[in-house]
This record gives sequence, structure tokens and C-alpha cells, in this order.
Amino acid sequence: MVDNAGMDTRLDFDRYDHVRPIRWTGDALQLLDQRNLPFAVEYVACRSSDEVAAAIHALTVRGAPAIGIAAAWGVVLAARTIDALDGAEAARKLEPAMQRLNAARPTAVNLAWALARMRRALADAGPDWRERIEREARAIETEDLAANRHMGALGANLIAPGSGVLTHCNTGSLATAGFGTALGVIRAGVAAERIARVFAGETRPWNQGARLTVWELQQDGIDATLIADAAASHLMQSGQVQWVVVGADRICANGDTANKIGTYQLAIAAKHHGLKFMVVAPSSTVDMDTASGDLIEIEERDAAELLAFRGERTVAEGVHAWNPVFDVTPHALIDAIVTEKGVVERPDAARMRAAFPG
Ligand code: MRU
Repeated sequence: MVDNAGMDTRLDFDRYDHVRPIRWTGDALQLLDQRNLPFAVEYVACRSSDEVAAAIHALTVRGAPAIGIAAAWGVVLAARTIDALDGAEAARKLEPAMQRLNAARPTAVNLAWALARMRRALADAGPDWRERIEREARAIETEDLAANRHMGALGANLIAPGSGVLTHCNTGSLATAGFGTALGVIRAGVAAERIARVFAGETRPWNQGARLTVWELQQDGIDATLIADAAASHLMQSGQVQWVVVGADRICANGDTANKIGTYQLAIAAKHHGLKFMVVAPSSTVDMDTASGDLIEIEERDAAELLAFRGERTVAEGVHAWNPVFDVTPHALIDAIVTEKGVVERPDAARMRAAFPG
């Protein structure tokens, strides 16, 4: 099969996709505990929606699509605690639990998007509302995996054979239902022999790149080189990378994109060095109701994440720190936004409106 991007998409997905962050077992949501990777590969069981909300807040599960999927299953768990004759009554009773899930993290729109889908499923449902929301949670998960596989082909097709890429944070199977967004493009690009060199920034302070991305690629047998975040401009100057490929937590109506802190400075440095900058995210990350990036709430986390590593203080007592965990890359610095619906090149408000009407 040749997809509409003109690239052969017959990837051996089983070879390139080994990790699953979320497993629904019928009575619990099993989450791969990303706080302890790569040294312990352990699942924790959530049996209530509040346990899911706490796991999202604590980064047990993280990555924009993955927290949306987890929240959807959280609604299914909350449904176990109520009785209702139809979907409308269930929706009223489940609303407080949905609001607590929504409040777990503010920046990634996928969380609110998934909960809105669950609300819509309930609104349509009669006495079979329990089956209906379980089907909806499953659909959110399977659609994400399909979107990622498609985006992988679309994004890889933009990259010239023999290129080097730099990525940031973790956007792989760990952050999604599987395959990943930016990391999916990297998987597809390596498979198609378009990508010859992969670099990952460590992504301080939580080290998603160092702890998660290079480990995940290692599971696939994809060679990747870890760099300190501070080495990115030097790497670009060396000529070893042609693209920066990142994910997103929220893409606004004008193309401004919130992603992991440090993304913005990579985009500035890429522009300076004449490199291309690609954002890869499912359409569930596109928020056409937010006009521009200055309107996005940027999560700020506990300064302790900066002052200590794995519980051990690394900074002098009494020092203060500021820990915003996302930043906004202005659309003018982005060459392509890839979603499962297609590629928006040089995004702006008009091109986004054309790509995401209504
Ligand atoms: O704080 P995190 O680890 O949840 O942040 C994740 C990111 O910023 C990712 O780049 C983004 O969610 C896209 S994941 C496919």
C-alpha cells in the first residue's frame, strides 16, 4: 500500500513498537509507571477515577495522547460507583469525577478532548450507557494508534534520505496508545532509510528524553544518541541534523504550539541554522477554540523537580527555582504540522482553518 503521501507504509509495526503504557484489564487500568523507567518496568493498577487523576498528575502516565486515553478509562472506572437509568443521568452523576480528571494537568488539550468525547457518548446513550462509554474509551485508544501510524508515514515523507533528526521529550509509544507521534515519524523514517541519525535531548528536569526516549528506541533496535539539552545548538551547527521533530500538547488555531519546555529554544536555534522544524500530533491535540499561544495555560510544577534528582537534593538548601514545564513555539518558527488528517506546511490561522474547518 502506498499512502497518499506517496510513501510505502507497509511497516512491520510489531518490530517497531514494543512498549504499551496503558492496559485496560476489565476491572482496573494498569499504567506503566514512567517515574521509574528505565530501571524498573512495572505497572501500577488504578481502580478508581481519582487514582487515575492522581497518576496523571504524578506523571505515572504522561504524554498528551496517553493522558487523554487514561482519563477516558478513568470515566469507565468512575461509572462503577454509580447507578443510572440512562446516559443523561450517568453524565450528571459522573461530572464531578470528570472535572477532577480534567484538573489533573492543564496544558495538554487531549485530556479535555477525551472527556468531551466521553460526555458526548453519554449524551447519546440509553440504558446501555455502560457498554457505550467502554466502547468509546476503547475507540479513543485504537484511533490514536491508527493516527500515529499514519502520521509516521506522512512525516517521514517530508524528510530527505540520509537526514539527521533531533527530538525532544518523549513522544513515543510511552506517550500515546502506541507507535508515537514525533517518535513515530522517526520510527517510520528510520524504517524507510530516510533518517540516518537520531539525536534526543535529555529534557531536563524530568529527563523524558534520557530516561524514556532513548530507552524506547533501544527496545526497537534503533540507534539514538543522547545529548544534553544545552548541546542542541552546537549539534545543529555541526551539520549532523536537518530536522527537529517534536510532539505537541496543544496546537492553537493559528498554529502556535505548546510542547515540553525547551521546544521553543530548539525552534529558534533551528531557524538560525536553516534547519526544518516539524510538529507531529493527532488532531485531538488541535484546539481551534484557542486563538493563539499566549492564551494557553502553562503548567508549573513543584520546584523540587529542579532542586533534586530521584529524591536526592542536588542544589544548595535555600535556593529557589521556577519550573514551567511547557513553552509555546510561535507558528512562524514551524515548517510543518503533521496530523493524521494531513500536513499543514508553514502553518498560520488561514491554513489551520482550511485544514480543520468547523
Ligand atoms: O510532561 P509530559 O512528559 O507529559 O510532556 C510531554 C510532552 O511535552 C510531549 O512532547 C507531548 O505531550 C506530546 S506526546 C506524543
